[in-house]
Amino acid sequence: MDPAEKKARDLLKDLYDRTPCMPIMVRLAWHDSGSYSAKDNTGGANATIRYSPESDIDANKGLDIARNLLEPIKEQVASMSYADLYQLSSVAAIEYAGGPKIPFRLGRKDKPKEDCSPDGRLPDATKRMPHLRDIFYRMGFNDKEIVLLSGAHCLGKAHPERSGFEGPWTTEPLKFDNTYFKEILKPDADPNLLRLASDMALLDEEETKKLVEAYAADQDLFFKEYAVAHQKLSELGCQF
Ligand code: HEM
Repeated sequence: MDPAEKKARDLLKDLYDRTPCMPIMVRLAWHDSGSYSAKDNTGGANATIRYSPESDIDANKGLDIARNLLEPIKEQVASMSYADLYQLSSVAAIEYAGGPKIPFRLGRKDKPKEDCSPDGRLPDATKRMPHLRDIFYRMGFNDKEIVLLSGAHCLGKAHPERSGFEGPWTTEPLKFDNTYFKEILKPDADPNLLRLASDMALLDEEETKKLVEAYAADQDLFFKEYAVAHQKLSELGCQF
C-alpha cells in the first residue's frame, strides 16, 4: 500500500475512534463524486465540492463539518489529493462501521473552482423512481445500483438544519449492515425512524422491490455487490 494511503487510513481510524463522524464522510464523498455527468464527462470525484458555489448549494449543507474534520489529516498527507482523501475517508468509514472492504486506488485529480458542478445534479429526497433514474442514469448507474447505493442510508441520520428532514433510518446508525432494507420493508414504520420518499420509491416497482428483499434477506450478497457499486461511485469522472 502507498505510504500516504497507509498514513491517511491510520489517521482516519484515530479520527473515527474519537469522533463518530463516519456517516457524514460517506455523504461528503458521495456528494463530490455524485455530481458526475456521463453525458459531457463533467463533475465527479474531483473535490470541487470544497469551493463556492458548489459548497453552498442546499444539497451540500453541513458538509463543511466533514471537510473541516479532514483538514488536519490533509496537512499530514500533503501529497494526496483532496479528491482521494474524501473518497478514502468514506471507504474507511464504511469498513470502520463494519461494512465491506471496498477496493480503493489513489489517483484522483483535484479540479479548480471554475469546474464546480451546477446545482441540480444530486437527488431530491421528495421524489420517486423517475427522478432517481434521471439522476443516477446520468452518472452511469442502473436500477440495481440505485438500490444498492441507497443501502448506505443504514448509516447516519438527517438533520433538520441541513436537509429539513430528521432522524436515522435504522436503530444503529453507526453500523453498516443491511437493516435499511429490512426497515423499509416493514409494513408498519417505526415512528422513530426516517423513511424518505426516495427510500420508499425502491418498493414502487416489482424489479427494484425484489432487490430490496434480496438484500434484506442476505447481508453477504448486499456487502459483495455494494462494494462494487461503491467503488464505481468513488471513481466517477476519474482516470487512473
Ligand atoms: C437515492 C437518493 C438519495 C437521496 C434523495 C438522499 C438524501 C439524503 C438526505 C436528505 C440526507 C439527510 C442529510 C442531513 O440532513 O444531514 C441524507 C443523508 C445521508 N446520505 Fe443520502 N441520499 C441519497 C442517496 C445516498 C447515497 C447513494 C449515499 C452513499 C452511497 C448516501 C449516503 C448518505 C449518508 C451516509 C447520510 C447520513 C449523513 C449524516 O449522518 O450526516 N445517500 N441523504
